[in-house]
This record gives sequence, structure tokens and C-alpha cells, in this order.
Amino acid sequence: MSGPGLVITIEGPAGTGKSSVAHRLAQRLGLEFLDTGAMYRAAALLALEQGLSPDGGPVLAAAVERTPPRFDWCRSPPRMMLGGRDVSERIREADVTGIVSRVAACPEVRRQMVVSQRAAAAAHPRLVTEGRDQGSVVFPDAPLRIYLDAAPHVRARRRAEQLRASGRLATELEILQGILARDRI
Ligand code: DC
Repeated sequence: MSGPGLVITIEGPAGTGKSSVAHRLAQRLGLEFLDTGAMYRAAALLALEQGLSPDGGPVLAAAVERTPPRFDWCRSPPRMMLGGRDVSERIREADVTGIVSRVAACPEVRRQMVVSQRAAAAAHPRLVTEGRDQGSVVFPDAPLRIYLDAAPHVRARRRAEQLRASGRLATELEILQGILARDRI
């Protein structure tokens, strides 16, 4: 790693292209990449594996404290590790996606994630970080904070195309309903 610190945040709701933009920006500028959604997804996987309620903030936070999601920064993009296992693919599956917004709504879990994200930026100070609170809450002093948004039907279309490309089927209407529900949460 070289050069002075530089944190760029990319924030906004689901399906607007935050991670595509973040990846390309990181590559283009030679910065590292922090996928904060993956951290919430790992916490959701922990809830599933340990049979914990996705709404039980204090209990979930205790589980996260015992088994904190960590990135393996030796890989690019970094891999999401949980208790020594690489869960980068597992956390994209439907059962995790189905509960992650409830896990991310727990203030106790959010507080832990904010601490880990700031620690990650301290250790990796040239970073593009992506997630819906990164500019407004986690790194309010970042020199460049980007907010990406799009109309809900556009976000639903992007998600439907991504799912089709990975061989999964979902109607745009179903996806739109999921997006609107997640925005409310
Ligand atoms: O971007 P994603 O789909 O991987 O995010 C997973 C979930 O975590 C989604 O419900 C949004 C939430 N999230 C959050 O609340 N704060 C973040 N910084 C990142 C993601």
C-alpha cells in the first residue's frame, strides 16, 4: 500500500449499482474495497446457523462478538470469513438475503459493524467503502462521499437482470415489492 489515506464512500439504497461503481472505482484508483453489506450478511448467516432471531439485537450482538465477521484482505476483492470459514458465496443465498435487513435493523449489531468498519479503514486507509450509511454515519469526514439513487422500478429491473444472469428466476414485481419493503425497514 502506498500514498496518503483516502476514503471514498458510496451510499444509497439497494439495487442502485453501489457495488458495481465501488468495484470499478477501487480498481481504477488502485484503492482497496470494503463491502459492508457482506458484514451484515455474515451476521445474518450467524443468526441462521445458531438458530437466533434476526430481530434479537442484544443476543445477536453477543454472537457477533464471539464470532466476528472478518475480511481476508490478502484476496482481491477481500473474502468474507466467519469463524475461519470463507462464507463469501454462502452469504449471497436466499435464506440470508431473506433476513439480513432485519439483522441490519438491530442497533446493537449496527454499532459493532461501525466499529469494525472504522478499524478496517484505519488498517486499510486507501479504501472505497460501500453501504447505505457509509458517508452519512460511518465516515462523515471522508473527502469524497457519493450518494447513488434510482427509481424503485429501475432498481428492481437491475436486480432482476442480475438474478437472470446467475440463472435464478424472480419476477420484477416480486423484486420491486422486496425493495420497497427493505427501504421501509
Ligand atoms: O448491499 P447488500 O445487499 O449486501 O446489503 C445487505 C443488507 O445489509 C441490506 O439489507 C442492507 C444492509 N446494509 C446496511 O444496513 N448497512 C450497510 N452499511 C450495508 C448494508
